[in-house]
Amino acid sequence: MTIHKPVLLHEVIEGLNLKNGAVVVDATLGGGGHAIEILKRIGETGKLIAIDVDEGAIKSFSSKLKVQSSKVEIRKPKAGNFLTVRDNFVNLKNILGGLGVETVDAILADLGYSSDQMEDGARGLSFQKDADLDMRLDRNNKVTAKDVVNNYTRNELENILKIYGEEKFAQSIAKKIVEYRKDREIETTLELVKTIESAVPEKYRHGRISPATKTFQALRIEVNQELENLEKFIPQAIEVLSPGGRLGIISFHSLEDRIVKNIFRAQARGCLCPKNFPVCRCEHKEKVKIITKKPVVPSAGELESNPRARSSKLRIAEKI
Ligand SMILES: C[S@@+](CC[C@H](N)C(=O)[O-])C[C@H]1O[C@@H](n2cnc3c(N)ncnc32)[C@H](O)[C@@H]1O
Repeated sequence: MTIHKPVLLHEVIEGLNLKNGAVVVDATLGGGGHAIEILKRIGETGKLIAIDVDEGAIKSFSSKLKVQSSKVEIRKPKAGNFLTVRDNFVNLKNILGGLGVETVDAILADLGYSSDQMEDGARGLSFQKDADLDMRLDRNNKVTAKDVVNNYTRNELENILKIYGEEKFAQSIAKKIVEYRKDREIETTLELVKTIESAVPEKYRHGRISPATKTFQALRIEVNQELENLEKFIPQAIEVLSPGGRLGIISFHSLEDRIVKNIFRAQARGCLCPKNFPVCRCEHKEKVKIITKKPVVPSAGELESNPRARSSKLRIAEKI
């Protein structure tokens, strides 16, 4: 059972312009909320390739699909037309190549973590649950948050917190972590939370937002290589789209959204020659048209029923 509520569901499904029989990639299956709606739209002749780096998400979706199709809410696609792939979306082109799929009609990436993963005490993703400092979505990855916190130099920690966490107390938090680990390793989320609390001014310790929020964000980004993966994924996704096909990306923090916005803009630009060139020499052609001039954000109604949607932003581009 999933507790995850899909974010911007209506906006995504309408924005991807899904047709009966379409071939679609859900690059971040998660609890499958978007996948179920995609299946309803593309019908029995459509094909859905659902990717997730987390084995648990793949397994629990298969049982969810059985229940949903037994309620005749959706018709299962024809045999072989619904595939789940446990892999990182950074390997999109290889994944599709391995399946013999050359082009697709729509791709969705709903970035980050599902509520199931955040609530899973064993993962150490949340500062609200005491757990081993792990944070890996892909259990096959070698580096955990514990490795980062205990082995990175003070400078490296400070940089990660500054850049990935946009944490104004990066310097003092990195200093406290290094002091703490002189005696023993930081092993659990709560040990880390306490260390962070001891590094920030008193008034930030008991506020509405935990002082650990940004450090945890930074560590999750570092451990799961989130920004590098996104930067490598978008151009591949655009490449495999068929003309008129759409790519939708939902991001949850400004660093991700900036990457999506900048790559979409760069791919939507034609000639890249300096302005003073009288004729184009680069022959660069625009690859996409941007459908969402401004990012789509959740309605007040959605925010009320799903506070987790708070920081979500959807951007859509269409292949030319
Ligand atoms: C926000 S959830 C998706 C929720 C889903 N759309 C739904 O409606 O239930 C994000 C999912 O993407 C997966 N994920 C994150 N980064 C990934 C990556 N680089 N490659 C593949 N899956 C990834 C996570 O494991 C998680 O299950």
